[in-house]
Amino acid sequence: MRRIFASILSAFVILAVSANDGEKKTSPQMDKFISDLISKMTLEEKIGQLHLISGTDAVSGETVSNQSKVLQQIKAGKVGAFINAKGAAKVREIQRVAIEETRMKIPLLFGMDFAHGYETIFPISYGSAASWNMEAIKESAHIAAVEASADGLNWIYSPMVDITRDARWGRIAEGAGEDPYLGGQIAKALVKGYQGEPAYANNTNIMACVKHFGLYGASEAGRDYSVVDMSKVRMYNEYFEPYKAAVEAGVGSVMSSFNEVEGIPATANKWLLTDVLRNQWGFDGFVVTDYASIGDIIRFGVSDYYGASVMSLKAGTDLDMESYGFTNNLKNALEKGDITENEINIACRRILEAKYKLGLFSDPYKYCDPKRPEKDIKKKEHREAARKLAGESFVLLKNDKNILPLKKNGKIALIGPHGNNRPNMLGSWGWPSNLNMASTVMEGLKDAVGDKATVSYARGCQPYGNMEHEVWLSLTKDFEKDGRSNTELLAEALKLAKESDVIVATLGESSEMSGESSSRSDINIPAPQKELLKELVATGKPVVLVLFTGRPLTIKWESENVPAILNVWFPGSEGAYAIADALFGDVNPSGKLTSSWPQDIGQVPIYYNIKKVSKPMDKWFQKFRSGYLDISNEPLYPFGYGLSYTTFEYGDIILSDTIMNKGKSLTASVDITNTGKVAGSEIEQLYIQDMVSSITRPVKELKGFEKIYLKAGETKRVNFTINEDLLKFYNYNLDYVSEPGDFQIMVGRNSSDVKNLKFTLK
Ligand code: BGC
Repeated sequence: MRRIFASILSAFVILAVSANDGEKKTSPQMDKFISDLISKMTLEEKIGQLHLISGTDAVSGETVSNQSKVLQQIKAGKVGAFINAKGAAKVREIQRVAIEETRMKIPLLFGMDFAHGYETIFPISYGSAASWNMEAIKESAHIAAVEASADGLNWIYSPMVDITRDARWGRIAEGAGEDPYLGGQIAKALVKGYQGEPAYANNTNIMACVKHFGLYGASEAGRDYSVVDMSKVRMYNEYFEPYKAAVEAGVGSVMSSFNEVEGIPATANKWLLTDVLRNQWGFDGFVVTDYASIGDIIRFGVSDYYGASVMSLKAGTDLDMESYGFTNNLKNALEKGDITENEINIACRRILEAKYKLGLFSDPYKYCDPKRPEKDIKKKEHREAARKLAGESFVLLKNDKNILPLKKNGKIALIGPHGNNRPNMLGSWGWPSNLNMASTVMEGLKDAVGDKATVSYARGCQPYGNMEHEVWLSLTKDFEKDGRSNTELLAEALKLAKESDVIVATLGESSEMSGESSSRSDINIPAPQKELLKELVATGKPVVLVLFTGRPLTIKWESENVPAILNVWFPGSEGAYAIADALFGDVNPSGKLTSSWPQDIGQVPIYYNIKKVSKPMDKWFQKFRSGYLDISNEPLYPFGYGLSYTTFEYGDIILSDTIMNKGKSLTASVDITNTGKVAGSEIEQLYIQDMVSSITRPVKELKGFEKIYLKAGETKRVNFTINEDLLKFYNYNLDYVSEPGDFQIMVGRNSSDVKNLKFTLK
């Protein structure tokens, strides 16, 4: 197979040899290689490179392509990339068709959504973000890349970096939360983890795709695919930062979003995809649409199918995912003079460059080594890393009277639908893997206690009410069937509870309740589970709530009545063991929230970095101030919040100077002491407020953080460097500037609990 490929491309052999080296090759070589290639391609073949076709493995929703015609289209040179083919052998065979049965022998890109692990599943991205551990997040991306690349894939639709501030929106589970700075750091870590440093240096590095560009997380009313409309100042200062960070980290591709931006659908928005992305940020990879989104433009009512395809190409879209807009319309558009051949060539070049950078022209089977799956998938080290990151992602929301950690003795009642379930451990993008491979919480706890304690399980209730409703049926599909009524299940659970020393209540959302197209108007723990929890608390036995969720939930009652709450998100394939580690204190929880958790749904969108307003409410309630009659403005749990089994004391901020001259920097130092009895990690957070500025600015913005490990009694000094860059923002004219004047510096354990000090920028 290889031989045929090599002889046919003999004209390119010398150039192609060096195409294997990832970033090491020079661009003149790549440019010449691709120019030669393009000069030999027909118009149809060039348009073919701009088409991403879908298979059926690991598909979350509907597919457009007729599966019986997929290979036919590849053979006809009408496909440049493939989404959703799973398995090295399968990918190899499809690649073989592209290489041996097409005229130009151009390899395909193979992409998939495996956003938080491939077969070893890490916590959902929103959960991993709560670890604030950039090295561990980067490593999780590297491991996902190692496993997926062993299985034939060379491209991932991650990181998802949309800023999300509305807990109703289900896709909050896929991102890093509400903060631009933290989101940017995580974006960089993930891109580097997937692509490697230098990028694509070997066959364990794959191409990342940052999404969804742009502003998708600002979907109005928390509904998916809803209206997004905001000022440019807000885009540049808040929502753009993580996408830009991914570009700075060298991300190879960008996925446009389903929403509109200033009245123009993102997929067809030239300002967004060319002026901002390429001209202002210097992005040099390719842009892919989101699923069938060229076709969706018709429903926006701004164009027909033909026009949508033309607009999208002209805007800077290079690869059409499943709309068939480019393959169906571009030839005609060229004949009519609505586009130029050069515009097609530019998009085609970008796709070919990606393949070249990945080394696919040198070896189209670079990612199809049949020996690798066995060797590289679900390795022990991978599972250990997933367990560790899961442990770091958990957020201890409450721990009255140090009820946690539990002792490994006595009788433990494990109660709730999540306690004995596998698929729901994984989270919204878990389905590319084998959903039934995760251990259950029950197995995790039993493994941890051995014969020192007994762990008994009762389901307690059905996961949701109204089980006949179609929506609830789909949400519960991954819970094993149990025909008993809630009354029967409760009776069994209460009996077990009364016979036990402690209750571990495993409750919350199912993984299907967050992610794409999973918006909720009620973000409580589902009703039957909440009822169960009330009954368990009423027994008077100590209750620990192990909370599963892909979004902030409204848990005011729980926060007031349940003694201990450990939030575990959807913790991944090794989550059960990580939960046991945390519950028994083998791991001390250190995660901190990356979103503000509301007291009530009426407060959303809620986020800590709100801009200053003309009539702020200092304390509830003040008439003619910005607030609610019936609730304070405070979140239930603020951004950056999370407890530990130990306690940390923060010293005062020590500033190296109170004056900072432009171009210079200051150091803010704080001594942190572990004042408790066990070792633990603490995430110190640095916030800054620009006190007077030419446009309204946030009350505070995260500008740095550090996670340190302290033994009991130990003190460490944390130093934050404050340079002029940290003080810059986009002003009214969108110039990136710092403005002289006073700044408030804040350091603390979360966004609401900080010490502050002022300095002046001269
Ligand atoms: C989602 C993307 C995803 C794509 C391909 C879309 O529906 O919005 O996040 O990458 O499908 O699966």
